[in-house]
Amino acid sequence: MHRTTALLLAAVSWLAHTTSSQTPPTPYLQTPSSRQLDWHRLEYYIFVHFGPNTFTNEEWGRSQSTPDVFNPTTLDTDQWAKSFADAGAAGFILTAKHHDGMALWDTNTTTYKIGNGKWAKDRVAAGLSADVVRMAAESAKKFGIKFALYLSPWDIHRDPAMPKDNLTGTIYAEPQIFGDDSPGDYNELYAQQLSELVTMRLDDGSGIELFELWLDGASGSDTVQTFDWAKFRDIIREHQPNAIMWGHQGVDARWVGNEDGVTVPTNWHTISRTQDETRYSGEELQTGVRDGVYWTPAEADARIHDGWFYHVGENTKTAQELLDMYLKSVGQSVNLLLDVPPDSTGRVVERDLDTLLEFRTLRDAFLNRTLLDPSMAVAASSIRGNNSALFGPTNILDSNRDTYWATNDNETTGFLEIELGDTFLVDAFVVQEHIALGQRIGGYTIDIGVNGGYETVVNGSSMGYKRIHKLSQGIETARIRLSITQANAAPLVESFQALGTRR
Ligand SMILES: *[C@@H]1O[C@H](CO)[C@@H](O)[C@H](O)[C@H]1NC(C)=O
Ligand SMILES: *[C@@H]1O[C@H](CO)[C@@H](O)[C@H](O)[C@H]1NC(C)=O
Ligand SMILES: *[C@@H]1O[C@H](CO)[C@@H](O)[C@H](O)[C@H]1NC(C)=O
Ligand SMILES: *[C@@H]1O[C@H](CO)[C@@H](O)[C@H](O)[C@H]1NC(C)=O
Ligand SMILES: *[C@@H]1O[C@H](CO)[C@@H](O)[C@H](O)[C@H]1NC(C)=O
Ligand SMILES: *[C@@H]1O[C@H](CO)[C@@H](O)[C@H](O)[C@H]1NC(C)=O
Repeated sequence: MHRTTALLLAAVSWLAHTTSSQTPPTPYLQTPSSRQLDWHRLEYYIFVHFGPNTFTNEEWGRSQSTPDVFNPTTLDTDQWAKSFADAGAAGFILTAKHHDGMALWDTNTTTYKIGNGKWAKDRVAAGLSADVVRMAAESAKKFGIKFALYLSPWDIHRDPAMPKDNLTGTIYAEPQIFGDDSPGDYNELYAQQLSELVTMRLDDGSGIELFELWLDGASGSDTVQTFDWAKFRDIIREHQPNAIMWGHQGVDARWVGNEDGVTVPTNWHTISRTQDETRYSGEELQTGVRDGVYWTPAEADARIHDGWFYHVGENTKTAQELLDMYLKSVGQSVNLLLDVPPDSTGRVVERDLDTLLEFRTLRDAFLNRTLLDPSMAVAASSIRGNNSALFGPTNILDSNRDTYWATNDNETTGFLEIELGDTFLVDAFVVQEHIALGQRIGGYTIDIGVNGGYETVVNGSSMGYKRIHKLSQGIETARIRLSITQANAAPLVESFQALGTRR
């Protein structure tokens, strides 16, 4: 062999070797889009049900009231936004139009809008804004939290199966275009409403920024309406490329299958059906589908009261109940959407605010007891390409979302052992999979060192974005092991933390 050829081959082989030890794992099946990854990280935000139902004491008003019914005495959207920011929520979602069809913004698509009521007319005459969607968006911006909208696809105001005797002969008696068999095109109307909302301008001329569009799957009539989800998606994508389109099963996020803010321990971020296909049952929506065709993670919606709209006399859940809910939603890899409805004054009531703050205090106190830090010694069963700098186990202790511990592609199980350097009373764990490259892990255990051996205290299945495991009691230990017992591809662990107290 010629000497230069030999040298060249040696160089190529050296290059191939270094490349392989530095090559990140290839993405496994479906991965989240960047908008979905951002959305996973929001974790907890507030639902605001507000509209005619607030004043008629209903949950599903039947579009029988004129806009005069909307009459908040001291509406204060700044109070909403400040309260939710103080509560540590990432943002809030407002019902721009609930099933009754009355619009809270100044739309050109219908006469049935609060702008035609006395409250709004008086405000406009006094030089004040009366567009509640814009007001809420301004407030969210002012207090530095995110904003999103709910726009009900089912529209009673347009549904011929829903009699609206009280509106007969008024300017609010509008064409009954909802339904495939009805004359007119409801999809066109809905698309126009969506377009108005996603292109809304704030007072300073800047565009509205939405983190989610909540396209409710609920319907209470037999009228069959085939929705043009693709058209709605295109409108959202064009004007709000960072917004999640939420629906019963997509396109970007799915319903969790119940309204209790919880999910089951084994649940996947992927499913295998779109909005145009047969609906999954509640149970299927909770579990998702392992190795599914679409990255469509679940969001758990829940209520601080019994109802979604404010009703006098309803109980507020306790801060402890909210923390339990949080552990069964955010702590089980799904986002928590907690409904906190303003009352007929247009403000969030004090009792709810106190509870939200108490919930935040409990949550912070629980989570703010981290025991592991980057100085601790972590040993791994193996490291991808033996490249500790890129894929080593200390990556789970930094707070960098882009780094993770990884094994070689031919290894789907493995473990990490952490020496704490001292004895601690451990009572909870937080673990995150590096989902940017797909959901791989289907089994893991957490063991703590006792009497020279290990005792399993957590036996988990699907991992995903984030798991929080709370033990029934604290256990003293100086050593912790995280084992990946099953994965469909090389497991990637982004972070691991133990919570407890120092002895
Ligand atoms: C509709 O009209 C009926 C009869 O006048 C009245 O009893 C009822 O309160 C009205 N409903 C609403 C929501 O205004
Ligand atoms: C309604 O139409 C008017 C006149 O064309 C326009 O100035 C306004 O922006 C429209 N409103 C919305 C919400 O699109
Ligand atoms: C977390 O605890 C530290 C002290 O241990 C404290 O300074 C900090 O304010 C706490 N943070 C939260 C969010 O409670
Ligand atoms: C990593 O190191 C071990 C032990 O030194 C060796 O057996 C193994 O082949 C190495 N793996 C890679 C991918 O270099
Ligand atoms: C996986 O491959 C690496 C080299 O790429 C090798 O060092 C290691 O022993 C293999 N592991 C298994 C479990 O076969
Ligand atoms: C964890 O649970 C799985 C499934 O039930 C079981 O097969 C396994 O033995 C358990 N592992 C431990 C260490 O308890």
